[in-house]
Amino acid sequence: MKRRIGILTSGGDCPGLNAAIRGVARAAYEMFDAEIIGISNGYAGLIDDEWQEMKKSDFSGILTLGGTILGTSRRPFRNMRVVEDDGVDKVAAMKKTYKNLKLDCLVTLGGNGTHKTANLLSEEGLNVIGLPKTIDNDIYGTDFTFGFHTAVDIATECIDRLHTTASSHGRTMVVEIMGNKAGWLTLYSGVAGGADVILLPEIPYDIKEVAKAVGDRAKSKKAFSIVAVAEGAMSKEEAKMKKKERAEFRSTLPYDCISKRIAAELQELAGVEARAVVPGHIQRGGSPSAYDRVLSTQFGVHAAELIRDEIYGVTVALDGNEIIHNKLSDIAGVPKPVPKDDHVLVTARNMGINLGD
Ligand code: F6P
Repeated sequence: MKRRIGILTSGGDCPGLNAAIRGVARAAYEMFDAEIIGISNGYAGLIDDEWQEMKKSDFSGILTLGGTILGTSRRPFRNMRVVEDDGVDKVAAMKKTYKNLKLDCLVTLGGNGTHKTANLLSEEGLNVIGLPKTIDNDIYGTDFTFGFHTAVDIATECIDRLHTTASSHGRTMVVEIMGNKAGWLTLYSGVAGGADVILLPEIPYDIKEVAKAVGDRAKSKKAFSIVAVAEGAMSKEEAKMKKKERAEFRSTLPYDCISKRIAAELQELAGVEARAVVPGHIQRGGSPSAYDRVLSTQFGVHAAELIRDEIYGVTVALDGNEIIHNKLSDIAGVPKPVPKDDHVLVTARNMGINLGD
């Protein structure tokens, strides 16, 4: 049995991409006669016909490597069917590259946007299999995406390190955690790092409640506080605004990120000395954790099993301890915010962590 497989990584990188690529390749070479084409820089390479024939040795020594050996780029889904100034019909171009390469299938490793385009290509008749990666953990239908747990480890270490300096100075440290519109990364790293306040996009905050919590701690023997705020967090007032209105309101404020704003507001309202910390892309860098190496490998191997069995139009997922697959059409574009009854969220609330509401 022979299969020609195209593989690409799209959207923001994360630890575990290379482990997943290796999982696909190793299992494919093991189970059938595989030829693998590495598409460069995500959908951009598929559009621009940029790729390379991979050799078995290309997949060696990459398990622990962060980033992606294939390169990646962001090509927004909303523009995929739009012909822009360059005059390129992107969907037609991707189909042409797939056809010219005589691919049996395309494996796309990516987040939400990647999955929407994967679904589009599947609807256009291509054989597509998705693999869910993102530090944001916001892909519907899977308990966890790969990359998430490594980012939790990194963000937790940031919070750990802030504890010592916060307690030495009796300061409030406001640490801004990535995650886009979802609070998963902030919630898990906040709990793991022992944050006193956790602010998520899913729970609009009242700054007066946060100031009270921080102020009470400052009056007690615990003169310091750690506030973990998700980059997508918003106040109760902002939550009532439409997206555009909120953006306009924010443009009038003298802060370029939410952590600086909260630190300034806490200084004023709680009378504490506060500092904002933005770890940023450090949360996406470096080697995957052991958990993510295992999950990425399992996901990659399952993708190869699906190719063997000619099951396409699906994305791989984790359901409890099972590796499963969902239809792309069922999950593409479906949000996965932290639900109010999430067990880690309930844990945080029940142990007295302030959630700003
Ligand atoms: O989706 C991963 C992510 O790191 C988000 O958490 C963050 O909002 C975004 O990507 C940052 O994007 P970029 O790398 O394009 O600045």
